[in-house]
Amino acid sequence: MGSRPRKHPTPPGDESPERTTPPGTPALGPQDAYAVDGPEANRKLYASWAATYESGFIADSGYVYHRHVAEVFCDGLADATRPVLDVGCGTGLVGVELARLGVAVVDGIDISAEMLAQARAKHVDGRPTYRRLIEADLTAGVEVADRTYAGIVSAGAFTHGHLGPESIAGLLRVAGPGARGALGINSAHFGERGFDRWFEARQAEGRISELGQEMRPIYGDADPGDPDQWARIVVFTVT
Ligand SMILES: C[S@@+](CC[C@H](N)C(=O)[O-])C[C@H]1O[C@@H](n2cnc3c(N)ncnc32)[C@H](O)[C@@H]1O
Repeated sequence: MGSRPRKHPTPPGDESPERTTPPGTPALGPQDAYAVDGPEANRKLYASWAATYESGFIADSGYVYHRHVAEVFCDGLADATRPVLDVGCGTGLVGVELARLGVAVVDGIDISAEMLAQARAKHVDGRPTYRRLIEADLTAGVEVADRTYAGIVSAGAFTHGHLGPESIAGLLRVAGPGARGALGINSAHFGERGFDRWFEARQAEGRISELGQEMRPIYGDADPGDPDQWARIVVFTVT
């Protein structure tokens, strides 16, 4: 996720039928997400944002991040029949894209029960998008058996005030040898938190291989000069 002005700010008293925010309620956006710090603040923010995350922020911002992450992940995926974990799955936008691209089994993990409830309601071709949804704080570890997943994928969770590189270690543990990773990381956050050094160190110690990255826009009309409107999608293979 990146900071950017809302394209269509909610006017006072807006009563458009598709908006679920009560008239006059200030809409939540990236500026609110960046103001949080740590798991408790995230829980609180997303509890109040879940119901309007898609009808407000996603509808108004031109968000394309989920599509880019799913596309980059699937480009190098050898076997789409094996389970994939969507990290910080939120309301399930990445899961829907993965399902449309032919990934057969997607689980989601997120700290917010309210965001997970939205994801639970998502279906593609009449089938639930997610096989399993796990409520967990990724700064505290991942209570999933080793080598469960053939892929780990993420959009929007590695950003200011959310997750840093230290949360990736647990994800590597639950990914089996040969698993593909495609983790989207806010470009400004990537530099500030030293993600490049973290990934290079894991490659040097043989934990991952085939490390690469692609720069993709978070919004359809992202400003080329604003690193908060771009994501580095880091790709790798777990060894
Ligand atoms: C900007 S949303 C992205 C959601 C979705 N992936 C998308 O692209 O729309 C960030 C998500 O990260 C989750 N999150 C934040 N901190 C977390 C933590 N410590 N552990 C697990 N999930 C967390 C939030 O609950 C939220 O659903």
